[in-house]
Amino acid sequence: MRKIGFGSFVFILLILAIGPKIIPTKVDAPLNINIETTTERVARGDYLANHVWVCMECHSQKNDQFYSDPVKPGTEGMGGLLFDSEFGKIYASNITPHKIDNWTDGELLRAITEGLNKNGDALFPFHPYTLYGSKDLEDVYSVITYLRTLPSIKNDVPKRDTKLWANVMVRLMPKPATFIQKPDSSNTIEHGKYLSGVCARCHTPQTNGKPNPEMFYAGGLVHPLSGDEIIRSSNLTPDLETGIGNKSRENFIGIFKAFDSKDSKTILIPKGARESDTPMAWTQFAGMTENDLGAIYDYLHTLPPITNRVEKYGVK
Ligand code: HEC
Ligand code: HEC
Repeated sequence: MRKIGFGSFVFILLILAIGPKIIPTKVDAPLNINIETTTERVARGDYLANHVWVCMECHSQKNDQFYSDPVKPGTEGMGGLLFDSEFGKIYASNITPHKIDNWTDGELLRAITEGLNKNGDALFPFHPYTLYGSKDLEDVYSVITYLRTLPSIKNDVPKRDTKLWANVMVRLMPKPATFIQKPDSSNTIEHGKYLSGVCARCHTPQTNGKPNPEMFYAGGLVHPLSGDEIIRSSNLTPDLETGIGNKSRENFIGIFKAFDSKDSKTILIPKGARESDTPMAWTQFAGMTENDLGAIYDYLHTLPPITNRVEKYGVK
């Protein structure tokens, strides 16, 4: 017993000492592909990156004096947003041509869906690569062609400054993508499920940092606001009392569409009242089509209702 314990202790020390670089990841070399740019792909990529997969929510500058921190127009893809966490400081990368011009399509595909950068180093999973790696390859191709059309913005983002143990952990996480065929949009429930992956991340509470499957979409996940303030995500299961069970489809679509106008992107948060802000990217999701929002509603209504009354605001 003692021997094994000592052995693993030495092993861990060794890993920490020689650094995370040499730990092999399970992901292969980037594919040798050349994605053809078509107007359909660029349009689809624009739609996904801005309104569904919300890449731009993280990879742009934000107007944080306004409700829901809308993206600063003209900063799309320039990166630099800081994620300050218990793991250290992580900055969203510049994903405009300034940074990605010398990346191959295969390298971009691997980064977006499998979590390795150009050099083969693991990305911090704040970039949700497992989510994008479980979608339709054609949709990812569309996003890549769209990124290449972004105006190049010269912005050199600092490298992440994370703790050694976090870097070791992160190195072990990337895994091969498992692409699927996207369902036909006439099948609204499956279509809604396909589109909604990004919502589950915030609307499912976690146990030990992992989503709790028994509380799928039941809300209550805590997001920090400023200072001591926190906000909890809503229950999106069809529970009548505590979820969205008594919201109509029109009503659900309407909540989003209320943020689709120019004015709704400049709602000032009164000073000293941070508790009236939200991390929910209302102004970005608002650009989804009514069909797509309706499909998400249809899908959410097939989930088992879970009674979970969420108190929206609180303190740590
Ligand atoms: C929740 C925030 C978030 C979202 C959403 C997000 N990313 Fe990221 N992304 C990041 C962060 C943070 C990094 C840097 C990770 C690191 O430094 O380890 C990153 C890294 C990357 C990289 C690697 C760039 C480099 O220079 O190494 C690419 C490419 C990328 N993201 C593209 C995308 C695309 C395309 C989407 C949408 C399909 C997307 N990201 C969505 C946060 C996000
Ligand atoms: C970054 C985390 C985050 C993501 C991603 C996210 N939400 Fe939310 N959502 C929240 C939080 C926090 C709230 C509560 C605050 C608020 O109402 O703005 C909320 C509120 C809501 C509400 C309001 C319910 C009510 O009672 O008015 C709906 C509806 C909703 N989200 C649906 C969605 C859908 C659909 C998606 C995916 C397209 C999504 N959310 C993605 C964090 C998130």
